[in-house]
Amino acid sequence: MLNACIVGFGAIGPTHAQAVAAAEHGQIYAICDCNKERADKGAEQYNCRALYDFDEVLTEDTIQVVHICTPHYLHVDMACRALSAGKHVVLEKPAALNQADLNRLMEAEKTANGTLCINLQNRFNNCIQTLLNTIKTDDSLGALVGVTGTQFWQRDEHYYGKSPWHGRWDTEGGSLLCNQALHLIDLMHVFAGKANAVRTSFSNKALEGVIETEDTSDSLLFFENGVRGVFFGSNAYTTSNSVTLELNFENVQFRYADRTLYKISSNAPAEIICTDQHPVDGKLVWGSGHRLLIDDFYRYLSGKGGSYISLESALPSAKTLLAMYESGKNGGKLVHI
Ligand SMILES: NC(=O)c1ccc[n+]([C@@H]2O[C@H](COP(=O)([O-])OP(=O)(O)OC[C@H]3O[C@@H](n4cnc5c(N)ncnc54)[C@H](O)[C@@H]3O)[C@@H](O)[C@H]2O)c1
Repeated sequence: MLNACIVGFGAIGPTHAQAVAAAEHGQIYAICDCNKERADKGAEQYNCRALYDFDEVLTEDTIQVVHICTPHYLHVDMACRALSAGKHVVLEKPAALNQADLNRLMEAEKTANGTLCINLQNRFNNCIQTLLNTIKTDDSLGALVGVTGTQFWQRDEHYYGKSPWHGRWDTEGGSLLCNQALHLIDLMHVFAGKANAVRTSFSNKALEGVIETEDTSDSLLFFENGVRGVFFGSNAYTTSNSVTLELNFENVQFRYADRTLYKISSNAPAEIICTDQHPVDGKLVWGSGHRLLIDDFYRYLSGKGGSYISLESALPSAKTLLAMYESGKNGGKLVHI
Protein backbone atom coordinates (compact mmCIF):
# COMPACT_ATOMS: atom_id res chain seq x y z
CA MET A 1 0.00 0.00 0.00
CA LEU A 2 1.27 3.45 -0.89
CA ASN A 3 1.09 6.10 1.83
CA ALA A 4 -0.53 9.37 0.75
CA CYS A 5 -0.60 12.85 2.13
CA ILE A 6 -3.31 15.25 0.97
CA VAL A 7 -1.93 18.78 1.00
CA GLY A 8 -4.73 21.36 1.16
CA PHE A 9 -7.96 20.17 2.74
CA GLY A 10 -10.37 22.81 1.47
CA ALA A 11 -12.99 22.17 -1.21
CA ILE A 12 -11.26 19.48 -3.30
CA GLY A 13 -8.81 17.92 -0.79
CA PRO A 14 -11.56 15.79 0.81
CA THR A 15 -12.48 14.34 -2.62
CA HIS A 16 -8.85 13.22 -3.09
CA ALA A 17 -8.87 11.70 0.40
CA GLN A 18 -12.04 9.73 -0.35
CA ALA A 19 -10.53 8.51 -3.60
CA VAL A 20 -7.26 7.40 -1.96
CA ALA A 21 -9.15 5.67 0.84
CA ALA A 22 -11.14 3.76 -1.80
CA ALA A 23 -8.10 2.93 -3.96
CA GLU A 24 -6.91 -0.65 -3.96
CA HIS A 25 -3.24 0.30 -3.54
CA GLY A 26 -3.38 3.48 -1.47
CA GLN A 27 -4.03 4.65 2.06
CA ILE A 28 -4.12 8.03 3.78
CA TYR A 29 -1.09 8.58 5.97
CA ALA A 30 -1.49 12.30 6.65
CA ILE A 31 -3.55 15.39 5.93
CA CYS A 32 -1.59 18.64 5.65
CA ASP A 33 -3.19 22.08 5.76
CA CYS A 34 -1.78 25.34 7.10
CA ASN A 35 -5.29 25.86 8.45
CA LYS A 36 -4.94 23.75 11.61
CA GLU A 37 -8.66 23.22 12.06
CA ARG A 38 -8.97 21.73 8.56
CA ALA A 39 -5.94 19.47 8.96
CA ASP A 40 -7.17 18.26 12.35
CA LYS A 41 -10.67 17.59 11.02
CA GLY A 42 -9.31 15.53 8.13
CA ALA A 43 -6.88 13.65 10.38
CA GLU A 44 -9.68 12.75 12.76
CA GLN A 45 -11.87 11.56 9.90
CA TYR A 46 -9.13 9.32 8.45
CA ASN A 47 -7.47 8.42 11.74
CA CYS A 48 -4.18 9.67 10.37
CA ARG A 49 -1.55 12.31 11.15
CA ALA A 50 -2.25 16.01 10.86
CA LEU A 51 0.56 18.15 9.45
CA TYR A 52 0.48 21.94 9.29
CA ASP A 53 3.63 22.69 7.35
CA PHE A 54 4.52 21.43 3.85
CA ASP A 55 8.19 21.04 4.90
CA GLU A 56 7.10 18.24 7.24
CA VAL A 57 5.52 16.44 4.28
CA LEU A 58 8.82 16.58 2.40
CA THR A 59 10.95 15.22 5.24
CA GLU A 60 8.52 12.46 6.27
CA ASP A 61 9.92 9.35 4.56
CA THR A 62 6.76 7.32 5.11
CA ILE A 63 4.85 9.57 2.70
CA GLN A 64 5.20 8.27 -0.86
CA VAL A 65 2.48 10.15 -2.73
CA VAL A 66 1.71 13.84 -2.27
CA HIS A 67 -1.61 15.24 -3.49
CA ILE A 68 -1.33 18.97 -4.13
CA CYS A 69 -4.78 20.48 -3.60
CA THR A 70 -3.68 24.00 -2.73
CA PRO A 71 -4.24 27.42 -4.38
CA HIS A 72 -2.91 27.76 -7.92
CA TYR A 73 0.08 29.98 -7.15
CA LEU A 74 1.56 27.23 -4.93
CA HIS A 75 1.25 24.38 -7.44
CA VAL A 76 4.59 24.49 -9.24
CA ASP A 77 6.69 25.24 -6.20
CA MET A 78 5.11 22.47 -4.15
CA ALA A 79 5.20 19.95 -7.00
CA CYS A 80 8.88 20.64 -7.76
CA ARG A 81 9.85 20.38 -4.12
CA ALA A 82 7.88 17.16 -3.64
CA LEU A 83 9.41 15.60 -6.77
CA SER A 84 12.92 16.53 -5.71
CA ALA A 85 12.22 15.00 -2.30
CA GLY A 86 11.56 11.72 -4.14
CA LYS A 87 7.76 11.73 -3.83
CA HIS A 88 5.16 10.82 -6.41
CA VAL A 89 2.79 13.72 -7.02
CA VAL A 90 -0.86 14.17 -7.97
CA LEU A 91 -1.13 17.81 -8.96
CA GLU A 92 -4.50 19.55 -9.20
CA LYS A 93 -5.10 21.67 -12.26
CA PRO A 94 -3.90 24.07 -13.57
CA ALA A 95 -0.37 22.69 -13.77
CA ALA A 96 1.17 26.18 -14.07
CA LEU A 97 0.19 29.83 -14.43
CA ASN A 98 3.03 30.99 -16.68
CA GLN A 99 5.57 29.59 -19.14
CA ALA A 100 8.55 29.93 -16.78
CA ASP A 101 6.76 27.84 -14.15
CA LEU A 102 5.66 25.30 -16.74
CA ASN A 103 9.31 24.95 -17.84
CA ARG A 104 10.40 24.57 -14.23
CA LEU A 105 7.84 21.80 -13.71
CA MET A 106 8.95 19.99 -16.89
CA GLU A 107 12.57 20.18 -15.75
CA ALA A 108 11.71 18.89 -12.26
CA GLU A 109 9.72 16.01 -13.74
CA LYS A 110 12.59 15.02 -16.05
CA THR A 111 15.08 14.63 -13.22
CA ALA A 112 12.69 13.17 -10.63
CA ASN A 113 12.59 9.63 -9.30
CA GLY A 114 8.90 10.04 -8.56
CA THR A 115 6.05 10.28 -11.08
CA LEU A 116 3.91 13.36 -11.69
CA CYS A 117 0.21 12.89 -12.45
CA ILE A 118 -1.91 15.86 -13.48
CA ASN A 119 -5.43 15.77 -12.11
CA LEU A 120 -7.67 16.12 -15.16
CA GLN A 121 -10.26 13.67 -13.93
CA ASN A 122 -12.94 14.42 -16.52
CA ARG A 123 -10.96 12.44 -19.05
CA PHE A 124 -12.13 9.39 -17.07
CA ASN A 125 -15.85 10.14 -17.51
CA ASN A 126 -17.63 7.20 -19.08
CA CYS A 127 -18.89 9.23 -22.07
CA ILE A 128 -15.38 10.54 -22.79
CA GLN A 129 -13.81 7.08 -22.61
CA THR A 130 -16.60 5.66 -24.79
CA LEU A 131 -16.17 8.40 -27.35
CA LEU A 132 -12.40 7.84 -27.48
CA ASN A 133 -12.94 4.13 -28.11
CA THR A 134 -15.60 4.81 -30.74
CA ILE A 135 -13.30 7.14 -32.65
CA LYS A 136 -10.51 4.56 -32.55
CA THR A 137 -12.67 1.74 -33.87
CA ASP A 138 -15.28 3.35 -36.19
CA ASP A 139 -13.77 4.30 -39.54
CA SER A 140 -17.09 5.53 -40.98
CA LEU A 141 -16.98 8.84 -39.11
CA GLY A 142 -14.69 10.70 -41.48
CA ALA A 143 -12.15 13.24 -40.27
CA LEU A 144 -12.75 15.49 -37.29
CA VAL A 145 -13.33 19.03 -38.53
CA GLY A 146 -14.63 21.00 -35.58
CA VAL A 147 -15.00 20.97 -31.80
CA THR A 148 -17.00 23.25 -29.52
CA GLY A 149 -17.07 23.59 -25.76
CA THR A 150 -19.65 25.56 -23.80
CA GLN A 151 -19.93 25.95 -20.08
CA PHE A 152 -22.35 28.00 -17.95
CA TRP A 153 -21.61 28.02 -14.25
CA GLN A 154 -22.32 30.13 -11.22
CA ARG A 155 -19.64 31.75 -9.09
CA ASP A 156 -20.88 34.65 -6.97
CA GLU A 157 -19.74 37.05 -4.22
CA HIS A 158 -20.32 34.37 -1.63
CA TYR A 159 -17.92 31.95 -3.35
CA TYR A 160 -15.19 34.58 -3.69
CA GLY A 161 -15.79 35.93 -0.18
CA LYS A 162 -15.10 32.50 1.36
CA SER A 163 -11.77 32.05 -0.36
CA PRO A 164 -9.67 35.17 -0.91
CA TRP A 165 -7.04 33.56 -3.18
CA HIS A 166 -9.73 33.11 -5.85
CA GLY A 167 -10.47 36.00 -8.20
CA ARG A 168 -6.95 37.49 -8.09
CA TRP A 169 -4.41 37.45 -10.89
CA ASP A 170 -1.45 36.81 -8.58
CA THR A 171 -2.94 33.88 -6.67
CA GLU A 172 -5.54 32.23 -8.93
CA GLY A 173 -4.00 33.41 -12.22
CA GLY A 174 -7.43 33.99 -13.79
CA SER A 175 -10.78 32.45 -12.95
CA LEU A 176 -13.17 30.98 -15.51
CA LEU A 177 -10.50 29.74 -17.93
CA CYS A 178 -7.81 28.43 -15.61
CA ASN A 179 -10.11 27.16 -12.90
CA GLN A 180 -13.65 26.16 -13.88
CA ALA A 181 -13.30 25.68 -17.66
CA LEU A 182 -9.87 24.07 -17.87
CA HIS A 183 -11.31 20.55 -17.79
CA LEU A 184 -13.50 21.33 -20.82
CA ILE A 185 -10.68 23.09 -22.66
CA ASP A 186 -8.53 20.03 -21.95
CA LEU A 187 -11.20 17.69 -23.36
CA MET A 188 -11.26 19.73 -26.57
CA HIS A 189 -7.53 18.97 -26.87
CA VAL A 190 -7.96 15.28 -25.99
CA PHE A 191 -9.97 14.95 -29.21
CA ALA A 192 -8.51 17.65 -31.45
CA GLY A 193 -4.82 17.41 -30.51
CA LYS A 194 -2.46 20.36 -30.18
CA ALA A 195 -3.61 23.89 -30.89
CA ASN A 196 -1.14 26.13 -32.67
CA ALA A 197 -2.94 29.46 -32.34
CA VAL A 198 -5.75 31.02 -30.38
CA ARG A 199 -7.79 34.21 -30.19
CA THR A 200 -9.49 34.86 -26.85
CA SER A 201 -11.62 37.62 -25.42
CA PHE A 202 -12.57 37.80 -21.79
CA SER A 203 -14.30 40.12 -19.42
CA ASN A 204 -15.67 40.45 -15.94
CA LYS A 205 -19.39 40.71 -16.58
CA ALA A 206 -21.03 40.16 -13.21
CA LEU A 207 -18.43 40.65 -10.49
CA GLU A 208 -16.85 44.04 -11.10
CA GLY A 209 -15.30 45.25 -7.87
CA VAL A 210 -15.44 41.71 -6.44
CA ILE A 211 -12.81 39.93 -8.56
CA GLU A 212 -9.96 41.19 -10.76
CA THR A 213 -10.11 38.22 -13.11
CA GLU A 214 -12.46 37.06 -15.90
CA ASP A 215 -15.87 35.50 -15.36
CA THR A 216 -16.76 35.21 -19.08
CA SER A 217 -14.75 34.29 -22.14
CA ASP A 218 -14.91 33.24 -25.78
CA SER A 219 -12.13 31.73 -27.87
CA LEU A 220 -11.35 30.58 -31.34
CA LEU A 221 -8.81 27.76 -31.41
CA PHE A 222 -6.80 26.64 -34.42
CA PHE A 223 -5.57 23.07 -34.04
CA GLU A 224 -2.46 21.78 -35.83
CA ASN A 225 -4.44 19.24 -37.84
CA GLY A 226 -6.75 21.90 -39.27
CA VAL A 227 -9.58 21.30 -36.79
CA ARG A 228 -11.37 24.50 -35.75
CA GLY A 229 -12.42 24.97 -32.10
CA VAL A 230 -14.85 27.39 -30.48
CA PHE A 231 -15.14 27.80 -26.74
CA PHE A 232 -17.60 29.93 -24.85
CA GLY A 233 -18.07 29.98 -21.10
CA SER A 234 -19.30 32.11 -18.24
CA ASN A 235 -19.39 31.94 -14.48
CA ALA A 236 -22.04 34.66 -14.48
CA TYR A 237 -24.98 32.28 -14.82
CA THR A 238 -27.46 31.38 -12.07
CA THR A 239 -26.63 27.67 -11.90
CA SER A 240 -23.66 25.40 -12.57
CA ASN A 241 -24.85 23.21 -15.42
CA SER A 242 -23.08 20.25 -16.94
CA VAL A 243 -20.78 21.27 -19.78
CA THR A 244 -21.36 20.62 -23.48
CA LEU A 245 -18.72 19.30 -25.87
CA GLU A 246 -19.52 18.79 -29.55
CA LEU A 247 -17.37 17.04 -32.10
CA ASN A 248 -18.14 17.40 -35.78
CA PHE A 249 -16.72 14.69 -37.99
CA GLU A 250 -17.22 14.75 -41.76
CA ASN A 251 -20.06 12.21 -41.54
CA VAL A 252 -21.42 12.43 -38.03
CA GLN A 253 -21.68 14.65 -34.96
CA PHE A 254 -21.20 13.61 -31.33
CA ARG A 255 -22.68 15.74 -28.60
CA TYR A 256 -21.72 15.33 -24.93
CA ALA A 257 -24.30 17.17 -22.88
CA ASP A 258 -26.29 16.51 -19.71
CA ARG A 259 -23.56 13.94 -18.87
CA THR A 260 -24.89 11.92 -21.82
CA LEU A 261 -23.25 11.11 -25.15
CA TYR A 262 -25.40 11.51 -28.27
CA LYS A 263 -24.62 10.49 -31.81
CA ILE A 264 -26.29 12.73 -34.38
CA SER A 265 -26.38 11.63 -38.00
CA SER A 266 -28.23 13.47 -40.73
CA ASN A 267 -31.79 12.22 -41.36
CA ALA A 268 -31.92 10.22 -38.12
CA PRO A 269 -33.00 11.05 -34.58
CA ALA A 270 -30.21 11.67 -32.07
CA GLU A 271 -29.09 8.39 -30.59
CA ILE A 272 -28.05 8.07 -26.93
CA ILE A 273 -24.77 6.17 -26.74
CA CYS A 274 -24.16 6.19 -22.97
CA THR A 275 -24.26 8.29 -19.80
CA ASP A 276 -21.65 9.14 -17.17
CA GLN A 277 -21.39 7.34 -13.87
CA HIS A 278 -23.01 9.21 -10.99
CA PRO A 279 -20.33 10.91 -8.87
CA VAL A 280 -19.71 9.25 -5.54
CA ASP A 281 -17.67 12.10 -4.02
CA GLY A 282 -17.86 15.87 -4.21
CA LYS A 283 -20.03 17.99 -6.46
CA LEU A 284 -21.96 16.77 -9.50
CA VAL A 285 -20.06 19.14 -11.83
CA TRP A 286 -16.70 17.71 -10.72
CA GLY A 287 -17.80 14.38 -12.20
CA SER A 288 -16.85 10.96 -11.01
CA GLY A 289 -13.32 10.79 -12.35
CA HIS A 290 -11.27 11.44 -9.21
CA ARG A 291 -11.65 7.89 -7.92
CA LEU A 292 -10.90 6.37 -11.32
CA LEU A 293 -7.89 8.58 -11.95
CA ILE A 294 -6.41 8.06 -8.50
CA ASP A 295 -7.04 4.32 -8.44
CA ASP A 296 -5.39 4.01 -11.85
CA PHE A 297 -2.36 6.06 -10.78
CA TYR A 298 -1.83 4.01 -7.61
CA ARG A 299 -2.12 0.79 -9.63
CA TYR A 300 0.51 2.16 -12.00
CA LEU A 301 2.83 3.10 -9.12
CA SER A 302 2.37 -0.37 -7.61
CA GLY A 303 3.29 -2.09 -10.87
CA LYS A 304 -0.24 -3.51 -11.24
CA GLY A 305 -1.13 -2.03 -14.62
CA GLY A 306 -2.94 1.30 -14.45
CA SER A 307 -1.84 4.53 -16.08
CA TYR A 308 -1.71 8.23 -15.34
CA ILE A 309 -2.09 11.64 -16.99
CA SER A 310 1.49 12.76 -17.57
CA LEU A 311 2.58 16.36 -17.83
CA GLU A 312 3.36 15.67 -21.49
CA SER A 313 -0.22 14.63 -22.09
CA ALA A 314 -1.52 17.71 -20.20
CA LEU A 315 0.82 20.09 -22.05
CA PRO A 316 -1.38 20.89 -25.09
CA SER A 317 -4.19 22.33 -22.97
CA ALA A 318 -1.74 23.83 -20.47
CA LYS A 319 0.00 25.76 -23.27
CA THR A 320 -3.28 26.83 -24.87
CA LEU A 321 -4.44 28.14 -21.50
CA LEU A 322 -1.39 30.41 -21.26
CA ALA A 323 -1.94 31.58 -24.85
CA MET A 324 -5.61 32.29 -24.11
CA TYR A 325 -4.61 34.62 -21.29
CA GLU A 326 -1.98 36.31 -23.43
CA SER A 327 -4.54 36.85 -26.16
CA GLY A 328 -7.27 38.02 -23.78
CA LYS A 329 -4.94 40.49 -22.09
CA ASN A 330 -3.98 41.89 -25.50
CA GLY A 331 -7.40 42.64 -26.91
CA GLY A 332 -8.00 39.23 -28.45
CA LYS A 333 -4.94 39.25 -30.73
CA LEU A 334 -3.94 36.02 -32.45
CA VAL A 335 -1.39 34.25 -30.27
CA HIS A 336 0.72 31.44 -31.72
CA ILE A 337 1.48 28.53 -29.44
N1 LIG B 1 -10.41 18.79 -10.28
C1 LIG B 1 -11.49 19.43 -9.87
O1 LIG B 1 -12.60 19.13 -10.27
C2 LIG B 1 -11.32 20.57 -8.90
C3 LIG B 1 -12.40 21.07 -8.20
C4 LIG B 1 -12.18 22.10 -7.27
C5 LIG B 1 -10.90 22.61 -7.10
N2 LIG B 1 -9.87 22.10 -7.83
C6 LIG B 1 -8.49 22.60 -7.69
O2 LIG B 1 -8.03 22.26 -6.38
C7 LIG B 1 -7.14 23.25 -5.91
C8 LIG B 1 -7.64 23.79 -4.58
O3 LIG B 1 -8.90 24.39 -4.78
P1 LIG B 1 -9.98 24.46 -3.61
O4 LIG B 1 -11.21 25.00 -4.26
O5 LIG B 1 -10.02 23.18 -2.88
O6 LIG B 1 -9.32 25.59 -2.70
P2 LIG B 1 -9.60 25.88 -1.15
O7 LIG B 1 -9.20 27.30 -0.91
O8 LIG B 1 -10.98 25.45 -0.80
O9 LIG B 1 -8.58 24.89 -0.43
C9 LIG B 1 -7.19 25.08 -0.47
C10 LIG B 1 -6.61 24.60 0.86
O10 LIG B 1 -5.19 24.72 0.79
C11 LIG B 1 -4.75 25.17 2.06
N3 LIG B 1 -3.42 25.76 1.93
C12 LIG B 1 -3.10 26.98 1.41
N4 LIG B 1 -1.77 27.17 1.49
C13 LIG B 1 -1.24 26.05 2.03
C14 LIG B 1 0.10 25.66 2.37
N5 LIG B 1 1.14 26.46 2.11
N6 LIG B 1 0.27 24.44 2.95
C15 LIG B 1 -0.78 23.63 3.21
N7 LIG B 1 -2.08 23.97 2.92
C16 LIG B 1 -2.29 25.15 2.33
C17 LIG B 1 -5.82 26.15 2.51
O11 LIG B 1 -5.78 26.37 3.91
C18 LIG B 1 -7.08 25.45 2.05
O12 LIG B 1 -7.62 24.61 3.04
C19 LIG B 1 -7.07 24.29 -7.02
O13 LIG B 1 -5.98 23.99 -7.83
C20 LIG B 1 -8.36 24.11 -7.80
O14 LIG B 1 -8.24 24.52 -9.14
C21 LIG B 1 -10.05 21.08 -8.70
